[in-house]
Amino acid sequence: MEAEALEPVAALEEPQSAGNTVFSNERTLQSPQLDLPPQLVPNTRLQMDGLQFLELLPAEGIPVAFLDPQYRGVLDKLGYGNEGETRGKRRAALLQMNEKTIAEFVRGIDRALIPSGHLFLWMDKFHLCQGFTQWLCDTRLEVVDMLVWDKGRMGMGYRTRRQSEFCVVLQKQPKRAKGVWKAHDIPDVWREKVDTSAHPHAKPVNLQTELIKAVSNIGEYVVDPAAGSFSVLESANQAGRNFIGCDLLP
Ligand SMILES: C[S@@+](CC[C@H](N)C(=O)[O-])C[C@H]1O[C@@H](n2cnc3c(N)ncnc32)[C@H](O)[C@@H]1O
Repeated sequence: MEAEALEPVAALEEPQSAGNTVFSNERTLQSPQLDLPPQLVPNTRLQMDGLQFLELLPAEGIPVAFLDPQYRGVLDKLGYGNEGETRGKRRAALLQMNEKTIAEFVRGIDRALIPSGHLFLWMDKFHLCQGFTQWLCDTRLEVVDMLVWDKGRMGMGYRTRRQSEFCVVLQKQPKRAKGVWKAHDIPDVWREKVDTSAHPHAKPVNLQTELIKAVSNIGEYVVDPAAGSFSVLESANQAGRNFIGCDLLP
């Protein structure tokens, strides 16, 4: 079958809503001055439990957080069963999070976010399809968008082989884009190759940088309570923001 030629992409027109644009390239939202306890040293790789870390953060002070849980569900539910064998060894060595723990992380982040702040939640295929709204109970978080990260190389899989991961965008109420999300050129499919030699789940630094720039101001804080390779620290540095985050492992 012959492929049809695609129409050229039209320039982005700003949607109108009752005479006002519904989004803008300016950010009017500001975070309050953040008073951190002495043990939470910014811009370092803290080694501590992420749930304890979140309890130490002041409430409603952070504009943006990332969470990349160490998913257990996909291994349990799909019975991959290859942990401990050569392919799964590095992944199995990491600390898995169960559903209850992930929900606690999400609640802790919800408490730390300013109103209209964002959580970028990395998600595997299993949870994306089966649902994850149970983690949002007792929070003021709502789904506002989703991105696909194309890793640019093929991984494993019993049926199709994995080449992508997903990032769900959640916003704390009140939900709004205008004056809060200021970049409008981030595609929702993002290709970026990542070196995973330091951490098997390292995430794309440049994508995270663009997302941070979209939803925070220079000098504000970005949080990651389960930071792995601390790719979000690198992204925050690139964006000129401060980072505060930890991992259980050094
Ligand atoms: C999927 S990895 C994160 C990868 C990270 N986004 C990156 O770009 O490198 C999840 C991390 O959660 C950590 N972890 C598991 N339980 C934790 C806990 N209770 N507190 C802090 N970190 C935890 C694991 O050690 C692992 O490094």
